[in-house]
Amino acid sequence: MTEYSPLQSEIKKLIKSSGPMPVWRYMELCLTHPKHGYYVSRDPLGREGDFTTAPEVSQMFGELLGLWAASVWKAIGSPPLLRLIELGPGRGTMMADALRALRVLPPLYQSLSIHLVEINPVLRDKQKSTLSGVRNIAWHESIDEVPEGPAVIFANEYFDVLPIHQVVKRETGWHERTVEIDDAGKLGFGAAAEPMPRFEVLLPPLVRAAPVGAVFEWRPDAEIMKIATRMRDQGGAALIIDYGHLRSDAGDTFQAIARHSFTDPLKNPGQADVTAHVDFQALVRAAEDLGARVHGPVPQGDFLKRLGIETRAVTLMAKASHEVSEDISGALKRLVGGGRGGMGSMFKVLAVSEPHLTDLAGFKDEPDARPDTGAAQP
Ligand SMILES: C[S@@+](CC[C@H](N)C(=O)[O-])C[C@H]1O[C@@H](n2cnc3c(N)ncnc32)[C@H](O)[C@@H]1O
Repeated sequence: MTEYSPLQSEIKKLIKSSGPMPVWRYMELCLTHPKHGYYVSRDPLGREGDFTTAPEVSQMFGELLGLWAASVWKAIGSPPLLRLIELGPGRGTMMADALRALRVLPPLYQSLSIHLVEINPVLRDKQKSTLSGVRNIAWHESIDEVPEGPAVIFANEYFDVLPIHQVVKRETGWHERTVEIDDAGKLGFGAAAEPMPRFEVLLPPLVRAAPVGAVFEWRPDAEIMKIATRMRDQGGAALIIDYGHLRSDAGDTFQAIARHSFTDPLKNPGQADVTAHVDFQALVRAAEDLGARVHGPVPQGDFLKRLGIETRAVTLMAKASHEVSEDISGALKRLVGGGRGGMGSMFKVLAVSEPHLTDLAGFKDEPDARPDTGAAQP
């Protein structure tokens, strides 16, 4: 991360000319400013980058998601065309691993049409190279562009990068949280002078009783509504995996990550990944309001274990050198374990499906809840 941030000068200019900037606008500029936005200009993933995601930890993650897609395809009557859509596909690693697992099912593999929704030109190029040779593949700027038809949608660490709104509670009510220029000329947080009119009634019950000083944040429902409407009307299931909380509550989770460490989100805008936790209760409510069925959320660790990640790890380790075996064992712990660095309980998995799909693999404890794909695992 360089210390100079051209976006910071631009944001300061905007604040000087138009006044304090709402947090959501600040976050939007940091991530998607056409020239200096974080997700417009770089590949942030992996050891050399700013953070590592589950597909980059191990091939097992994408493979199991591929098998999960196969179980959905079977459950919806094995349609002759299935759209496999990924929102924010990073380096294309997860899709590549999922497709490798799906090759064991030729009738499904041949029915697939792959759609990657990606705004980042640098990552698009990486995806093209990772997925070279895959037929029936297309890239889109938005899920709206994906043609109709039954679909399986994957969104791993996608919702956390969508901008949030924040409000802060004062004696006078809830005020929009802003980014402004402080007395030292630095970016700092502030609040709009006037409270949001009639805002209290819109708040989740837990939040209404929050003390003065509390922050509440939310994301617009637009993206989850598109997913839920598509599932309800055209069939299939979507899998949303992210870090977040199960109940809508007060709390400030706006954060920045650079070089695998937390950093100040107001320092060097455009140079760090700014994110906020996902409110799973809000996603559930929005999807159910539209008549889609939701499954979970469940902790990622439970989900992956139910899909058979431990068996898969043993199979891979049986063929591996001692050193590689250690890596596989470490990756397994990271994906399913709790505690520091563990993704197993911090990350949650939520599925949104067409209304009549009652059971989806990975969401219930059953003696053997591995996806019934009709094929042996690769
Ligand atoms: C945190 S990364 C996760 C990448 C990948 N899913 C993984 O798990 O490795 C977020 C991804 O979403 C993409 N992205 C960010 N904002 C987006 C938007 N508004 N529309 C589509 N993709 C977006 C990024 O370029 C990146 O591919």
